[in-house]
Amino acid sequence: MARYSFTSALVTGASSGIGWEYAQELARRGTEITVVARRTERLDELAKGIRNVKVNVITADLCSEEGVAAVEQRLAESPVELLINNAGADGGGGAFAARPPEQEAGMVRLNVLALVRLTRAVVEPMVAAGKGGILNVSSLAGDQPLRGFVTYAATKAFVSTFTEGLAAELRGTGVHVTLLKPGYVYTEMNPNGPDPSSLSGRFWLTPQAVAKASLDAVERGRLMSVPGLHYRAASGLVNALPHQLVRAVVSRVDPSGS
Ligand SMILES: NC(=O)c1ccc[n+]([C@@H]2O[C@H](COP(=O)([O-])OP(=O)(O)OC[C@H]3O[C@@H](n4cnc5c(N)ncnc54)[C@H](OP(=O)(O)O)[C@@H]3O)[C@@H](O)[C@H]2O)c1
Repeated sequence: MARYSFTSALVTGASSGIGWEYAQELARRGTEITVVARRTERLDELAKGIRNVKVNVITADLCSEEGVAAVEQRLAESPVELLINNAGADGGGGAFAARPPEQEAGMVRLNVLALVRLTRAVVEPMVAAGKGGILNVSSLAGDQPLRGFVTYAATKAFVSTFTEGLAAELRGTGVHVTLLKPGYVYTEMNPNGPDPSSLSGRFWLTPQAVAKASLDAVERGRLMSVPGLHYRAASGLVNALPHQLVRAVVSRVDPSGS
């Protein structure tokens, strides 16, 4: 039984993948949506396909100061009941010493700074109203250091720690915070994912399933959403094992293949 419902939401990174599915799922639940990304044509296509609720489009590059400021301004003018900080990038992977410095910094601006700024923009009015929801998209990549995705994993560790801390601070205010930590999902972020019918493909998730599971968690007022039983087990194990052991194991594996 749902405990919370929202009449309006803003979703970052809605032009593809999990964010696109958030928009579809929110529309099914009757929530008016504001969608944010850089690719206007994809956002327009999304808006055109949704008939039952109003869809507002904002084209913004959340790596830039102007882009973040434009979304902050919209949130100040038209407050929303639910913020979904979903936009994120992993930079494609590769050894840190060889990665383009600007791309590494861009990942921090998008995955960390934009998320903090937009959260700050909504949290005060939500607390004043005594209601609201914030869903931050992290990753299981943030549960441990990751060779080949050093900066990406660190940004997601930030998102997880930030979100759990914020949830603790906001307890009792009526504002609910949820942390999504997906494993592998079939989206543009993983253009070379395995065939879904292969053995490894069975471990991958669809963006539809991830969006639905995490929105259900939000509606139930849950702090944590880790879709997929196998991923919940893996996350539980990584967090239960001594960190030194986890570090020793992950230092031998490079998921980027670099
Ligand atoms: N796929 C996975 O396996 C996986 C696993 C764990 C966590 N995640 C997380 O899930 C979230 C969504 O990723 P996804 O898998 O759905 O990937 P995706 O299909 O590549 O979607 C990423 C979204 O972020 C937007 N975006 C990227 N850079 C942006 C920028 N500078 N400004 C504004 N928007 C920007 C993209 O839109 P534009 O390009 O149009 O700007 C796109 O809508 C990310 O936070 C990711 O870290 C994904």
